[in-house]
Amino acid sequence: MKILVTGGAGYIGIHTVIELQASGHEVVVVDNLVNSKLAALKRAEQISGKEVLFLEADVRNRNAMEQVCQSHRFDCCIHFAGLKAVGESVLQPWKYYDNNLTGTLVLLDVLANNGCKNLIFSSSATVYGNPAIIPVTEACPKGRCTNPYAQSKSMAEQILMDIHKADPEWNIVLLRYFNPIGAHKSGMIGEDPRGIPNNLMPYITQVAVGKLEKLSIFGDDYHTPDGTGVRDYIHVVDLAKGHVKALDSVIGQCGLEVFNLGTGSGYSVLDVVNSFEKVNHVKIAYEIKGRRAGDIAICYSDPGKAERVLGWKAEYGLEDMCRDSWNWQKNNPNGFEDEGKKL
Ligand code: NAD
Ligand code: WQD
Repeated sequence: MKILVTGGAGYIGIHTVIELQASGHEVVVVDNLVNSKLAALKRAEQISGKEVLFLEADVRNRNAMEQVCQSHRFDCCIHFAGLKAVGESVLQPWKYYDNNLTGTLVLLDVLANNGCKNLIFSSSATVYGNPAIIPVTEACPKGRCTNPYAQSKSMAEQILMDIHKADPEWNIVLLRYFNPIGAHKSGMIGEDPRGIPNNLMPYITQVAVGKLEKLSIFGDDYHTPDGTGVRDYIHVVDLAKGHVKALDSVIGQCGLEVFNLGTGSGYSVLDVVNSFEKVNHVKIAYEIKGRRAGDIAICYSDPGKAERVLGWKAEYGLEDMCRDSWNWQKNNPNGFEDEGKKL
């Protein structure tokens, strides 16, 4: 199939591009590089040995999106493009709603005008808020969002549900990711956050590589086995493969479906630190701080629906994730140094 991948230069997008190409799909990436670098696409080409067609454009740019959709007959779009920094979204809500919602609205309209009504959307476990059911099934009601980023994901889901209801020709898969970490086995691509990382694993790897002094652990007084927050960390390559499974198993016939993509296992912050130290033989300095605003104690998935319907199951464990995250960071202490603009 020919797939439009928006946000395909980003962390999850680039790993998915590689898995799509490995499965024989043709890929066109549209990304405005607001949170990624061209070097990621070049590295993906080296890994897959296949060209990645790329257009530098904003998904809100209707003319550019019309042009790309007219030049290619897409069978499906995988829509990763979005802003994702929770703290920034609290400070700049307009920017987040505009980017994540206007972007989705323009994209949907242009896709439909050009005869493509198949979409896979990057949603998030954050739409469950503080989940009412643990492990979280897809039947768990959506929860109260504590920040504009989470709200934008929840609202985008609602928009997609309403559009499917109004026009059942649409096939839409909402993939709710839990906590993606890890990197490609080659060590050539991985997560490259701008500035100081917000998320746990990139913070740990930057402490390990000496760029940051020590990790702050946000709270050790939760009702969890060791008091620190528990999450469902999932290897980014497993996550990428989940998109290919969704494409191959259900797109074209599913109507609207929601799937959790997680491992089903919950690990605490200290579990992650301990596992990282053990497999990589490096020490992570840390100190316990107060809770971070908006954090919840426990969130992990029941990924059974994805296994039953898509035949997808995460294969990698926490140790693999820690090893691969470190392999990426130590080989690329400064992430993707920009290797020029031309592909
Ligand atoms: P990322 O920032 O690495 O990738 C997003 C990509 O989209 C970037 O390359 C960025 O340049 C691009 N982009 C942003 N706005 C754009 C626009 N208007 N037009 C074109 N390109 C644009 O993030 P990621 O971790 O790869 O996340 C991908 C998607 O998955 C996002 O929608 C994110 O909200 C969602 N998600 C991420 C996580 C996570 O923890 N990483 C969890 C759940 C859901
Ligand atoms: C994990 C655990 C922290 C950093 C966020 C978004 C969510 C989703 C994934 C996109 C928590 C603790 C973290 C640090 C710490 N993104 N922690 N010190 O908060 O589960 O989810 O990313 O959809 O929307 O909210 O992930 O990696 O930030 O935190 O102690 O420096 O690590 O308190 O318990 P989170 P995270």
